[in-house]
Amino acid sequence: MTQAPTPLDKAAARRKYGPWAVIAGASDGTGEGFARELAAMGINLLLISRRREVLESLGDELAAAHGIEYRVHVQDLMVEGAGQAILDASSDLDVGLYVSNAGADAVGKGFLDEPIERWHGMITMNVTTVMETCYHFGHRMRERGGGGLLIMSSGSALGGIPFLSMYSSTKAFEGNFCEGLWAELRPFNIDVLSVLAPLMDTPCYRRNTEGTGFLMDPSMAWDPFDVSRGALEWLPHGPLLIYPNTPSDADRGAEMAERRERVEASMALGSSFNAPATS
Ligand SMILES: NC(=O)c1ccc[n+]([C@@H]2O[C@H](COP(=O)([O-])OP(=O)(O)OC[C@H]3O[C@@H](n4cnc5c(N)ncnc54)[C@H](OP(=O)(O)O)[C@@H]3O)[C@@H](O)[C@H]2O)c1
Repeated sequence: MTQAPTPLDKAAARRKYGPWAVIAGASDGTGEGFARELAAMGINLLLISRRREVLESLGDELAAAHGIEYRVHVQDLMVEGAGQAILDASSDLDVGLYVSNAGADAVGKGFLDEPIERWHGMITMNVTTVMETCYHFGHRMRERGGGGLLIMSSGSALGGIPFLSMYSSTKAFEGNFCEGLWAELRPFNIDVLSVLAPLMDTPCYRRNTEGTGFLMDPSMAWDPFDVSRGALEWLPHGPLLIYPNTPSDADRGAEMAERRERVEASMALGSSFNAPATS
């Protein structure tokens, strides 16, 4: 994978992204990877997902290993009000980093073959909750003078995929949203990154493909902990980190630079909407 332009300075990262980080979807896969990396930097953690005992066991382990504090908040991100509940659970914490990790499509069915409530749930998790948390943490970070927003998206954000129509559409929201935010929040010392993640050997992915006939050649899939580590390295260099599909594919640095240039070029147009009226 393309190397981040500069290695992450861990002491500087702790100052900017600490003393507390919030991870939505922290109990396994890349979410667990983020928790492990951030704890090793000495950053306290608010761990969120649906399984309390898994979060507590991870938190206990990381607190013992790194001397950090942790807190657990049990929350289904697909229900309305999840964004507000996360804000309430962190209202007394000085949060320097928000990570939106959960967001996979746990079913992968045809659009017409699932109850519409499931698609509403996906929109809530990948659009509404992401928007609400970025809005409120963004305000808090602007007031405190800096921070980071890291949103896990997917390579499927780059184009629609049959049987993942809703998933790829919500992932496209995350990518586009972060591109705009990255430019808007840069003047406030807030780093924004959306990770267009590749195929990863996560527990969720294993559960979803088990017995489906979809054969995963292990060499094709990324180790989720490598992806979390890479994402944190890239956090100061948004707006997008586009992973090669497999670990042996060529890096996508040229595509990332092209997307970034397009955002930078559209800054003047975007700013003109905000300019005070002249008459
Ligand atoms: N795996 C891949 O191949 C792949 C490829 C491209 C992009 N991605 C992206 O990478 C991210 C991580 O993917 P993943 O494969 O690890 O699966 P995931 O289900 O998105 O993430 C797993 C984590 O999220 C939590 N979680 C899942 N649904 C939740 C819900 N409704 N409410 C609260 N927490 C929830 C799980 O904990 P609990 O079970 O304890 O709630 C677990 O901690 C996602 O944003 C996904 O879109 C994954």
